[in-house]
Amino acid sequence: MWKKIFGKSATQKNEVTPVDIERSRLPRHVAVIMDGNGRWAKGQGFLRTVGHRAGVDTLHDILDTAIDLKLEVLTVYAFSTENWKRPHDEVDFLMRLFSEYLDKEEREMHEKNVRIRFIGRVDELTPELIRRVRHAEELMKNNTGVHFCVAVNYGGQDEICRAVQGLAGKVQAGELSPEEITPELFQASLDTKELPPVDLVIRTSGDMRLSNFLLWQAAYAEFWFTETNWPDFKPECFMEALRDYASRERRFGGIKEK
Ligand code: FPP
Repeated sequence: MWKKIFGKSATQKNEVTPVDIERSRLPRHVAVIMDGNGRWAKGQGFLRTVGHRAGVDTLHDILDTAIDLKLEVLTVYAFSTENWKRPHDEVDFLMRLFSEYLDKEEREMHEKNVRIRFIGRVDELTPELIRRVRHAEELMKNNTGVHFCVAVNYGGQDEICRAVQGLAGKVQAGELSPEEITPELFQASLDTKELPPVDLVIRTSGDMRLSNFLLWQAAYAEFWFTETNWPDFKPECFMEALRDYASRERRFGGIKEK
């Protein structure tokens, strides 16, 4: 039985769009690599920073769509542990943009019952950004809606190393034996400990790689790639990815039941 889920995108504020995806076929956890801000800006003759600003608007609309659809988790890759290699001005701009974003949008997110959380080495960000991050997390910690997880100064290998260090420390202290380290215990040592595994990874802008994003969590994820640059990624593109996901058969290493 196909149920209609009604969602309205931020670009069609007064229009309700029926979406023919059976709720049980929606992913629980969608992770997005928001790529192509720079290429989008260059294509329009703008500075790269204009692309990042346009990327914020897209993020706003995609989060609204996730809220409308009552998705459980939306994780976005905002800044990787490797992104520090970018020119100082661009890094500085991005840090200020993230602070500004939280300042402007945290109230609206809170009103929409969003639970924001940050993953990665948050403590190495600028003092201003750390303050905003902690404020937003605290403000929304008791909300019950969409988990909005923002990866900043995040690297999958780095996250795994930090988890290993934590467990190794417990073994050294005699609190844990090596045999007790199971996939479940390991998962509980990651930044994403309270979140379900990733079901769907979306990457915009044509590249087809994971770029050190959620390496453990995406073990059985489905992938969806598009040539569209992040600033042009509209809610309808997001719906297209979800529709495609809904049509796939996931076997998790098993075989199809007859
Ligand atoms: C990738 O495009 C984008 C980033 C490294 C930054 C992501 C940031 C945003 C989308 C802004 C909104 C995010 C938040 C959390 C407010 P790119 O610069 O790698 O583009 P390119 O590959 O075309 O150069």
